[in-house]
Formats: sequence, structure tokens, C-alpha cells
Amino acid sequence: MKKIILTGDRPTGNLHIGHYVGSLKRRVELQNSGKYDEIYILIADAQALTDNAENPQKIRDNVMNVALDYLSVGLDPNKSNIVIQSSVPALTELNMYYLNLVTVSRVQRNPTVKQEIKQKDFETSIPVGFFTYPISQAADITAFLATDIPVGDDQLPMIEQATEIVNKFNSIYGETLVAPKALLSENVSSQRLVGIDGKAKMSKSLNNCIYLCDSSEVVRQKVMSMYTDPNHLKVEDPGNTKDNPVFTYLSCFAKDEHFTKYLPEYKNLDEMKAHYERGGLGDVKCKKFLYAVLEDILTPIREKRKYYEEHLDEVYEILRKGTVNANKKANETLKMVRKAMKINYFDDDSFLNEVKNKKAQ
Ligand code: TRP
Repeated sequence: MKKIILTGDRPTGNLHIGHYVGSLKRRVELQNSGKYDEIYILIADAQALTDNAENPQKIRDNVMNVALDYLSVGLDPNKSNIVIQSSVPALTELNMYYLNLVTVSRVQRNPTVKQEIKQKDFETSIPVGFFTYPISQAADITAFLATDIPVGDDQLPMIEQATEIVNKFNSIYGETLVAPKALLSENVSSQRLVGIDGKAKMSKSLNNCIYLCDSSEVVRQKVMSMYTDPNHLKVEDPGNTKDNPVFTYLSCFAKDEHFTKYLPEYKNLDEMKAHYERGGLGDVKCKKFLYAVLEDILTPIREKRKYYEEHLDEVYEILRKGTVNANKKANETLKMVRKAMKINYFDDDSFLNEVKNKKAQ
């Protein structure tokens, strides 16, 4: 069986370092591992519209921003298809058929959707399309016969929902669809990176993100303003590294080489943490180190982004080509689905012959 990757992001804003460490970095590694036959990365504009119906321009603008983010972190258009979701109509049709296989109470149980409904104050006015987006996401996944879905842990309920749909579909209509599995990143804190305020997940609406496209100076300001241990007032005070986003970020981003390069008095993060915890290591020093580490990662990303920003025609062609390939694949799946569901009236003569035979009996 072919190994196929499918994943995606909603184009509602620029991607940030939480996306990078939680999924983008992994995608690039998987892409370059040579272990996958096909890779599709969806810019999920149709899904973004489920809770942004009044803001079409915002989604339109961010389609290109997300494409630039993808290319700048090293997604390679020769290996990965970058796809604009709404330009693959087969996904919408699959969604329509899958809606019949899921109950309202099942969708209501989805913890990620529940949380989003609260966050967005949708309690009394949930758009139906938003409520059912896990089903449309199952269409995304199955249309490409995807086997592997690299995502953050907040997306696990979607993979579970897709798997249930696959099983139900196959049991009713015969083996057609492929059950997906999630590929989570190993580093738990990187699956959902906290914001610079330490409060919650990095999120545009909370204004607590460091973006991949932020300039060096903006990154410096954001890092220097980060929340740390509020009880670590003086340098000598013992500090807490646990709910301290500076250390959370370091555990996601700092490698031993960074210590050799920028902070040789410690061999690794464990030594640095031990010093902070026993007292005597100041926040400013930690933040300066974190800034150096982030710049090490962000500088090559910024350079690539600059190239693509100067070659937007090339990016546009990349999107077009990725979307053409995606349509080809999704249409093949749709054809199998229609056949399995007995709604392929015009594929061949079988429908008419069936009717004639029945009449003749
Ligand atoms: N729901 C995902 C997010 O909010 C985006 C997405 C859309 C997706 N379709 C997908 C992720 C299919 C994985 C597979 O980030």
C-alpha cells in the first residue's frame, strides 16, 4: 500500500513558531525522509470559512501568507503538493456523503470542537458548517487515501472521527477508503506551544505569538517581554522552570550545539535549568540565549521567505500545480466512492441494463 501524507492549516493568519515546532518542522523531515509516495499539504480555506463566513478577504489574503510560510520552512514543491482546499470540489461532495454516516450527538462529543465553540462564543449560534467541520476534514483525509497525518494533539479527535467514517463507509459500501493514523511530534510541549504570555496555546487572537515572518527586532522584543516565573524576582532567588515559557521554548528549540555556540558555561538544558532552579541565573540572560537560539532557526527561514516574496509568480504556479495534482487524486477517490455507493449512473451501461433486466423479469 502506498504511504501518503495529508495535512493542512487554516489560512486565518501567519504561521508561528508553535506551528513550526508542532508540525511544520516534522513535515519537512517526513518530506525529506523519502519514505512517502505522495504528500499533500492543504491550505484549508474552505474550513477557515466555516467560522469566518463574513471575512472572505482575510482568508484570501492568508492563502498566500501560509503558502509563503510553507515554502520558507522548506516544504519543497517537487516533493509536496501545496493545495488550495476550496479548489478541489471533490472534497465538498465527499463531505456531503459522509454527513450521513455521523450522528449529531457524535459531533457534539468532539472535544476540540467543544473547546472552539466556547472560545469563539458560538454557544448560542454555531454555524452548521463549523459544527460539522470534522466531517469535512475526514473528506480531506480520505480523498487522498492518506495513511499518515502529521498534526498536533488537538487534531487527534479529527483523525478519530475520520477513522470512524472510514470504518462505517467500508462496512456499508465495501472496502474503499483507507484508515489514517496520526503522526504526533515526540516532544510533548511542542505539540501545543504556550504563548509568550504563558497563558495558553499560541494564538493570533490572544496576541501572544512569535511569527515565522517576524523581523529579528520584533522577535527580540517579544522574547524580552516574555512571561517567566513571577516569584523569581532577584537573580539569587530560586526559580521555577516548569510553568515558565522561556524554559518551555528552550526545551523545544535549544540543542546542545546552541549551548556550545551561545552559552558555553552549560553543556545542555538540564545544567542550565538546575542553575535556574537553585538560584543565581537571571531571566534576562535566559531570554538573551533563547533569542539567539530562535534567531539561529528563523534566519534561514526569513531568507527563503525573501526569495519567494520576490518571486510571487513562481509561488502562484506552485499552488496551481499542487492543486491540479490534488484534483486528479481526489477525483479518482470520488469515482470509487460513487461506485461503492451505487450512484455512478453514467460511468457505464450497468444502471440502464439493471433497470431493463428488472423490467424483463
Ligand atoms: N483543522 C486543521 C487546523 O485547524 C486544518 C486541517 C484541515 C487539517 N484539513 C486537514 C489538518 C486535514 C489535517 C488533515 O489546523
